[in-house]
Amino acid sequence: MNILDHNRIVLFTGAGMSAESGVPTYRGQGGIWNEYKWEEYACQTAFDEDPMCVLDFHELRRIEALKCEPHSGHQMIKEVQEEHDDVWIVTQNIDGIHQRAENKNVVELHGSLWRLRCENEGHIFYDLDKAEYRSRKCTCGSWLRPDIIWFNDMLDPENIERSNEHISCCDLFISIGTSGFVWPAAGYPKLAKSSGALCIEINPDPSEQSHMYDRIYHETAGEGLRKLFKSD
Ligand code: OAD
Repeated sequence: MNILDHNRIVLFTGAGMSAESGVPTYRGQGGIWNEYKWEEYACQTAFDEDPMCVLDFHELRRIEALKCEPHSGHQMIKEVQEEHDDVWIVTQNIDGIHQRAENKNVVELHGSLWRLRCENEGHIFYDLDKAEYRSRKCTCGSWLRPDIIWFNDMLDPENIERSNEHISCCDLFISIGTSGFVWPAAGYPKLAKSSGALCIEINPDPSEQSHMYDRIYHETAGEGLRKLFKSD
């Protein structure tokens, strides 16, 4: 059976998907949480205590992300989506690289670096890559915080629902570059497997959830996707 003969495909991506573009991962060698304590930069308490410091950290992440370009794996996903009309991407990444690569049907489980949210009114400000939107305060006077999921934040229930819906209905689930440490995303391979999907993992290293997969490619994202879709 050709891999594209599956009816409903979910690509579940983590920091390793963007690593080949040059975006650092969170854990492991060169991981962001080895250099920066999340307690000081990535939680509401840190923001309440020192908003400028937290906003500077996220602005730095935007600047670094903009230096990174999509890689061959993103291009492969674009081609797969052109050939197959039911391919969803559930990503934990906040860097927007899937969208820059013209990947479609993206659920951003952990939010986006490219949106801000008014702490008081909840308004969302989009398109932060346009400098005029990079204000730090709303017109109401409240701080604008990155519209991302920090440690101890609740996930957006709509995103959880959409992810659960796609994963519980898919017949092919492909995880790319995630360590499987962070919940509820870490539970998605189990959900896919219990729904009867063929579960494939692409990761150069074993992950916390490797035991859930039917097939594992110990490859980088680009090479694993190439092997899976071009030589299956
Ligand atoms: P991690 O940093 O925890 O894990 C990255 C994974 O990518 C590891 O399993 C690596 O082996 C793998 N990897 C590294 N290079 C790769 C490559 N070139 N190709 C494929 N895989 C590669 O990142 P996540 O699992 O995404 O949350 O982390 C999950 C969440 O933890 C993030 O979304 C973030 C973080 O705290 C929030 O910010 C809310």
